[in-house]
Parts: sequence; C-alpha cells; structure tokens
Amino acid sequence: MREFGDFQTPRELVQAVLVALHRGGRAWSRALEPTCGAGSFIHGLCSLPTPPQDIQGIEIQSRYVERARLISESLNTRINIRIQQKDLFQLNLAQLQWSQRGPLLVVGNPPWVTNSELGVLGSANLPSKSNIKGLRGLAAITGESNFDIAEYIWIKIIKELAWAKPTIAMLCKTSVARNVLKFAQEEQLPVSGAAVYRINAKKWFDAATDACLFSMEVGLEKSDYTAPVYSDLSAAEPESLLSISNGSLVANTEIYHQLKFLDGECALEWRQGIKHDLATVMELREASGVLINKRGEIVELEEEYTFPLIKSSDLQAEGEPSPRYRVIVTQKALTEDPSELRQKAPLLWRYLNEHVEEFRNRKSSIYSGRPDFAMFGIGGYSFSPFKVAVSGLYKSGLFRALRPYDDKPLLLDDTCYFLACESLQQACVLTELLNHPVSAEFLNSIVFSDSKRPFTKKVLQRLDVEAVWRYVDKGELLNRVNSHLQRFGAEPVAEEDAILRYVEGSEQQCQQFRLL
Ligand SMILES: C[S@@+](CC[C@H](N)C(=O)[O-])C[C@H]1O[C@@H](n2cnc3c(N)ncnc32)[C@H](O)[C@@H]1O
Repeated sequence: MREFGDFQTPRELVQAVLVALHRGGRAWSRALEPTCGAGSFIHGLCSLPTPPQDIQGIEIQSRYVERARLISESLNTRINIRIQQKDLFQLNLAQLQWSQRGPLLVVGNPPWVTNSELGVLGSANLPSKSNIKGLRGLAAITGESNFDIAEYIWIKIIKELAWAKPTIAMLCKTSVARNVLKFAQEEQLPVSGAAVYRINAKKWFDAATDACLFSMEVGLEKSDYTAPVYSDLSAAEPESLLSISNGSLVANTEIYHQLKFLDGECALEWRQGIKHDLATVMELREASGVLINKRGEIVELEEEYTFPLIKSSDLQAEGEPSPRYRVIVTQKALTEDPSELRQKAPLLWRYLNEHVEEFRNRKSSIYSGRPDFAMFGIGGYSFSPFKVAVSGLYKSGLFRALRPYDDKPLLLDDTCYFLACESLQQACVLTELLNHPVSAEFLNSIVFSDSKRPFTKKVLQRLDVEAVWRYVDKGELLNRVNSHLQRFGAEPVAEEDAILRYVEGSEQQCQQFRLL
C-alpha cells in the first residue's frame, strides 16, 4: 500500500547488500530489521555462514507479519527470531529486549514515501507529535516542508540506539542519505564510517529515483560526517567523497577542495523567476494575432500587462532563447496592490475576476494573507532588459545571456534563476565566466545532479564570479565575450579592465543587493 511506502526488497538485492556489508569479515551477533515487511532481510541474514543469533523484526501490516513469521518458522533454525506487529513510531527502540549481547546490525529498507504524499493519501502513518518534536529541525535543515518518512526513521534509530553502538545499513533514496548526514552533523549525532553505495532503483523497485545502501557506525567516540560514494554495491573504490563544508553538503569533496577559492559570494544577487502558480490563467500563447490561455479561451487585456516568458526548457534549447508564452503581470513590485488594476487595466481586471476562485484555490501557503492575484518573485530586477539566466532543473548549468524581445524584457518562470544586468555587454561577460569550465567544475562539486532542483539561488550565490575572473585567461575571455556580442550584433568590449567593472557590478547594482 502506498501509505506504507511498500517496496519489498527482492532476494537478489538482499544478498548483494549483505555481501557488501560482510566484506572484510565483519559479523554481528544481533540484528534488527525495523520495517521488516515479509522479512526479506531476516531471511537473508539467516542464510549467512555466520548469522546473527538474535534477530528482531518490526512491521505494521499484519499480512506481512504473518508472512515473515511463516518464513522464519520454515527456516528450521535455532536462531532466535521475533517479529512484532507494531507501529515503529510508537516504539522506543532502546527498550527492545535482546537475548544476546555483542555487535548489533540494523538493516532493512524503510518506507519510500514523503509526508506530503501521506497527506494526499489521508494517511496517519506518521510519527506522533511528541516524536516529531525532536526531529523538527530536520525540516528546517533540509529546507523542505516535504521530506521522506525514511529520514525520520533514520534519525529515530540513531538517537534511540546510539548507546548500543550499532551499524545501521538501510536502502533509501540518496537524497535521504544526504539529509540524514547533514542533520547528524548539525545535531552532532555520534555518526562515523558512513558510506553510500548506489543501487539501480529502476531495476530493483521500478522507482524513478536515485537510491543507495547507506551505512554508518553509530555511538563511537569520534564522529565523522563524510561518506565515500560507491557506484554500486560491489565497487571497490569510491567515485567521490560526500562531505559538509561551511554548513553545506559537498558532492565531490576532492574537486571542491581544489576549487575552494571560488567558494564565496557573487557580487550581484541571483534572483528566482516569477511565481504565480496558475499557469492555466496567467500564461498565454499568441495565435493569429490573439492571446489564448491554456484552457483555449481568448483573452483580451491591456497589452502592457503581458511580458514574453522564458521557461527552463527554452534556456536549454539551441540558439538564442525565444519565448513561447507571454505571462500576465499583476504587480510590478510585491508592495503594489493588484486591486489598482480595476482602474488602470479594466480588461485585465475583468479577466482576473472571472478566475478569482482559481487564484484563491492556489495551494501554496505563501499566498495566504496576500491580496487576490498576488505574485511572487517580482520586483524592479524582473524587468531589467538584460539578464544572465539558468534553469534550476537541469543537471548541468547552462547559462544564457538574454536581451529584450519585441522591445520588452524577457521574464523568467520560477524554475529559473537570473542576474539582472545593466547592459548586454555585462550579460555576455557574466555568461562567459559562468559557462567557463572552472565554474562548471566548481558548481558540479557542490550540486547533486539527482536532486529535483540541482541549481538553487543558494548554490549559485556561492560562486564568486570575481574569483573566476581572476583565475581565467583574460585575453581568451575577451575573445569569447566579443564573439558572443558579435552574434547579437552588439558593440564589443574594448579592454580587459572593462570586464572587471561588469563583474564587480555598478555601485547601484551592488547597493541594491546590500539593501535587500
Ligand atoms: C519498503 S518496504 C520494505 C519491507 C522490507 N524491509 C523489505 O526490505 O522487503 C517498507 C515496509 O515498512 C512497513 N511500514 C510502513 N510504515 C510502518 C510503521 N509505521 N511501522 C512499521 N512498519 C511500517 C511497510 O508495511 C512495508 O512493509
């Protein structure tokens, strides 16, 4: 069932996980499978040459508990196996009774479901309020209101079993592994010897996500919040080292350390594109001289309230980015009240009011307490004629210089980020610096290509473009900038010093950044 994040682990994968864990001759006398389902791992553990002698399983669904018990009984072994039908969130794992002492292995595959998916399913399969309390920081740290139930389970196990110094090894999304490592570092939980072994989630679970076996030692004296990342369960050498630097996760620690001199702050402020959460009403297509919304309705409004819109895919396409849609703009600044449109733009006002219920039904809580038709990510910067833009959604950042279209500034949607520029020259200089291989390598070392949004404002702001300027060959850069400008039919930049002025930003640009 969806609400229980139910993906039972295939035998072959269980085998591969246990082989990887026992490499180097390690063995455990006790084992716990926290959300054991039909007991795939319990079964696998019993088949080991030196199996743990005391094995416990916890599972919420009775049909699985029965199956797990049947399988254990059929094993005909002297190993002490106990399967409890319990809600893990109602149990204190520190109070489990064991018949054996010695090394403890916590192994398994916690549910693959997020709290918001549970919300949609109307499920109550969540930790109780009192349990959530200590874990609330997790949401704050991941910066997301939506997180995986597996993250709760990891933290719960670490906190409740640290005294027993267990090895914990569980299958999970790689994003879960990263969030747990980051949370452990923030909370200084006693974690060490962590490792990430990638698995093919599509093959094993038909799941379109990046997943791994995440393992760690808990409760040892010295903590360490780094984790080598292996390409698969049998890889002998890691492909990279995951770590945390200046409070942020680093995907490739080796490259990051080589390029750390670029880690700082961009002199100009990265902005996110406009947010309205109502594409069906706000985004219009032009056909045979009329504007049509995504419902196919012809829309009549005052022309000055629509702007050409660039979306993520337009930034990835070859050639100069060109808009396929126009977007309605109801405010020029967050402080502007859209109700002024009643007088200023009666046609638009009528159109908006025809759809007022849809605006009021926008799900995101950011609109509550805001006037009808309010937008976000809107300000003077949105209308700057020249920009450098990048999509937040693609694995590798491709930066594009933008100039006005049909005499209007190009606006970006909220999947994109941009720097507002004062001239096409500045946009081309910044674009060439951001697309330089050294910038790409630095960004790749700090972003996680498997995240839903690898590039964020925070990530982009960290790249110190002035430091890139100091590093690159100035003559070569000037050539690239000028051939870029030539493609636009624009005036070239005369000398290298002019480039530096563009990189530093004008006094006005920098002041805006400091004020906001
Ligand atoms: C991804 S499946 C994995 C099952 C098993 N560990 C395996 O590897 O085959 C997750 C399991 O967690 C169980 N589960 C979900 N919520 C639970 C809860 N609150 N307490 C205990 N078990 C739970 C589900 O019923 C499901 O069997």
